[in-house]
Amino acid sequence: LDNGLANTPPMGWLAWERFRCNTDCVNDPHNCISERLFKQMADLVVSDGYQDVGYTYVNVDDCWLAHERDAYGRLQPDYERFPSGMKALGDYIHSLGLKFGIYEDYGNFTCAGYPGILGHLETDADTFASWDVDYVKLDGCYSLPTEMDKGYPEFGYHLNKTGRPMIYACSWPVYQTYSGMTPNYTSIINSCNLWRNFDDIQDSWQSIASVIDYYGDNQDTIIANAGPGHWNDPDMLIIGNFGLSYEQSKTHMAMWAIFAAPLLMSVDLRTLKPDYKAILQNRKIIAVNQDQLGIQGRRIYKQKGIEIWARPIMPVFKGKYSYGIVFLNRRTDGTPSEVSVTLKELGLDHIEGYHIQDLYDDYDYGIVTPDRRFKVDVNPSGSVVMIRCNLYKGKPINNFIEATRDAQPRK
Ligand code: GLA
Ligand code: GLA
Repeated sequence: LDNGLANTPPMGWLAWERFRCNTDCVNDPHNCISERLFKQMADLVVSDGYQDVGYTYVNVDDCWLAHERDAYGRLQPDYERFPSGMKALGDYIHSLGLKFGIYEDYGNFTCAGYPGILGHLETDADTFASWDVDYVKLDGCYSLPTEMDKGYPEFGYHLNKTGRPMIYACSWPVYQTYSGMTPNYTSIINSCNLWRNFDDIQDSWQSIASVIDYYGDNQDTIIANAGPGHWNDPDMLIIGNFGLSYEQSKTHMAMWAIFAAPLLMSVDLRTLKPDYKAILQNRKIIAVNQDQLGIQGRRIYKQKGIEIWARPIMPVFKGKYSYGIVFLNRRTDGTPSEVSVTLKELGLDHIEGYHIQDLYDDYDYGIVTPDRRFKVDVNPSGSVVMIRCNLYKGKPINNFIEATRDAQPRK
C-alpha cells in the first residue's frame, strides 16, 4: 500500500502470542489485557533500549473491546480494563515517542468473539483516527473469504479518507488460502502494508519450523510480493517465551530478517532474560531485516536437514547485490554439521569479492572472492550461522586468510 508507511518492515511489540485473551484482571491483574499492561510494555520498550534499535509500535490485539458498541454504534473498550479509554492509551504511548496499534476484524466478530466491523466500516475507521491510532490489524474471523476482495479495500478506503496515516495490516490472504481460494496479491499489495499468509505462530520450534517451510515451499508465489510499503507477515516474534531454545531463538530472528518480516515482539518484557533481549536487539540482524531495498530472501539450498537462505541487500554495485545469508541446520543427529560452499555456488559472483562478517559472533572473515571454498559449522536442532556478505569494491586485500570458521563452541 502506497501510503508512505512501512517503507521497511514495521517493528514493535504485540500482545497476542504471549498474553492472548486473558481478560481476568481480578485474579491475574499483571497479565490481563488492560491499559496497565500496554503502558508497562511501552515503558519497557523505551527504558530497556528496544526503541533505540528500532522497535516503535505498541500494538493491542484482540480482547480489548467491550461486548457491545456504544449508543452511537461506535466501538468502545472494556472500561473495566481500559478505564482511561483508548485515546488516552494512545496519548501515553505517543508521549514516549512510540506509535499505537489496534486490532479489529473484518467480520461480524473478532476471532475471540468481540464486535467486528461489518456494517460499521466508516464509523470504525473514523473512531481509530479520532484515537490517533497509527496501525490497524484487521483480522478475518466470522467473515466470508469471498467478500474480502471487496471488503479489505473498502475498509482501506475509509482509513485513507480519515487523512490519518495508519499502517494497514491484513489477514486477507491467509483466510482465502484456507478456504481454497487463490489470493489476488496484486490487489492485496495495493491495499495493505502487510498481510498474514500462514498459520498463527505458537510458542514452539515446530511452529517456527512450519513457517520456515511455508515460506520456502511457496517462495515462487509469495516472495516477489514483498517490497517497501508491502510485506509478507510470518507473524510475531516469540523469542524469550517458553518454547524455543537459545539457538532456536537466534534462528527465529535470523530467518525473520531473511523474510523481510515485521518484527513484532510478543513477549513479557518485564521478565525477558538478557540473552534473549540481546537477540531481539541485535543491530546487525535488524539492519538486514530493515534493509532499504526490501527484497525478501529465498531458500537456495535444502538437503538432508541443511538449508541455505539468501537475501539481497545494500550495498549494490553495477547490478550486483550484497547478501544476508543464513546456514540453517535442522538435523537432530547430534553433532555440528560442516557446510562447505563457494560464494559462486550461492550465486555471489562479484569478481572482487565480498567482505564477510558473522552477525551473531564478533567474527570477521575478511574479503572472500567467489571461488574460495567457504566453510561454516552449524550446530544441530534448529541452529544458524548468519553472515553478511558486503560487495567489495576495492581490491581483495586479505584474500589469503583462510575463510574457515570453526563454529564450535558457540556461546
Ligand atoms: C487470529 C489472528 C491472531 C490473533 C487472534 C486473536 O487467530 O491470526 O494473530 O489476532 O486471531 O483472536
Ligand atoms: C455472517 C452474516 C452475514 C455476512 C457474513 C460475513 O454469516 O450473517 O450477513 O455478514 O457473516 O460476510
